[in-house]
Amino acid sequence: MSEYAVRFHRTGGPEVLQYEAVDLPPPAAGEVRVRHHAVGVNFIDIYHRSGLYPLPLPSGLGQEAAGVVEALGPDVTGLAVGDRVACASGPLGAYATARNMPADKLVKLPDGIDFETAAALMLKGLTAHYLLRRTCRVEVGDAVLIHAAAGGVGLIACQWARALGATVIGTVSTPDKAELARANGCEHVLTGVAAADLPAQVRALTGGRGVRVVYDGIGRDTFMASIDSLAPLGMMVSYGNASGPAPAIEPGLLAQKGSLFLTRPTLFHYIAARADLVAAADELFARVLDGTIRINVRQRHALQHSARAHEELAARRTTGSTILLPQ
Ligand SMILES: NC(=O)c1ccc[n+]([C@@H]2O[C@H](COP(=O)([O-])OP(=O)(O)OC[C@H]3O[C@@H](n4cnc5c(N)ncnc54)[C@H](OP(=O)(O)O)[C@@H]3O)[C@@H](O)[C@H]2O)c1
Repeated sequence: MSEYAVRFHRTGGPEVLQYEAVDLPPPAAGEVRVRHHAVGVNFIDIYHRSGLYPLPLPSGLGQEAAGVVEALGPDVTGLAVGDRVACASGPLGAYATARNMPADKLVKLPDGIDFETAAALMLKGLTAHYLLRRTCRVEVGDAVLIHAAAGGVGLIACQWARALGATVIGTVSTPDKAELARANGCEHVLTGVAAADLPAQVRALTGGRGVRVVYDGIGRDTFMASIDSLAPLGMMVSYGNASGPAPAIEPGLLAQKGSLFLTRPTLFHYIAARADLVAAADELFARVLDGTIRINVRQRHALQHSARAHEELAARRTTGSTILLPQ
């Protein structure tokens, strides 16, 4: 059976993505072969493709996928042929019909979570998990600001923060996105607000105080406005660069602005240890299965049309999660 993967030989726009026939050797020691049923699209895939996060080329792409174990390499324990599994990290190459994966990067899927849902939730949901449960543990009564509230991470994080008892303020660019954010946990939505006006609007919603934490995946355009929206001792979580990398700042600025905390986290450190990956996935799956978090698959594309998915995500035309379907 021929296998196919989306690969790129030079960095650039979506046009560099090529759908290629690939050879898939038998899985090596510690690996299993997974046949993909659905693949998740994430903003980090754009950073890899564009060269913002440099990689050796040519390269495969993508880290989020769900499927079925088809073959086991030597020395694999805890997985069997036929198991339904998903991943959110590991070597790049999730944009593929099938691939060999280190077994310790996979988690088994509960019966109640289908492949499309899994591909839409693994990377984004595990990100929401560490942001809200570990980086800054959100508690009842906290005011939190979540940028791109109608996005992939955003819709999950807003629902989860609300369920934890927070007052969620979301930012979005359009009225349609605002409606969606409101239906997914945001108590207040700031629509199309210029960065210069954001701190005053956030303070107006928080009795002048500001929020305990900002989750900012936008980067360059919002970074300073996010810092200026924090209450004293608040935490700035800069976790992405959708508009470009955040600027450098002097540590002394954090003192002037209220003894603030600043972190620039990435999921892969939070799930590097197998025990952390499994614990986070268990908590995420439980919240999906008990209905606390609804996963919004809002765009579907054939795997060979991944360039179209990238164009839409970069152009801010998507909401919720985007998945690719191998044909
Ligand atoms: N550090 C980590 O561990 C980690 C893990 C996962 C994701 N992330 C980051 O989280 C962010 C969200 O990821 P996602 O995959 O869920 O994407 P997404 O939020 O679905 O899409 C990005 C959103 O960012 C907003 N945005 C604002 N300015 C933008 C610009 N100049 N260009 C493009 N988008 C812009 C848009 O929403 P509006 O139009 O409503 O403003 C857009 O829909 C990304 O920065 C990603 O890198 C980080």
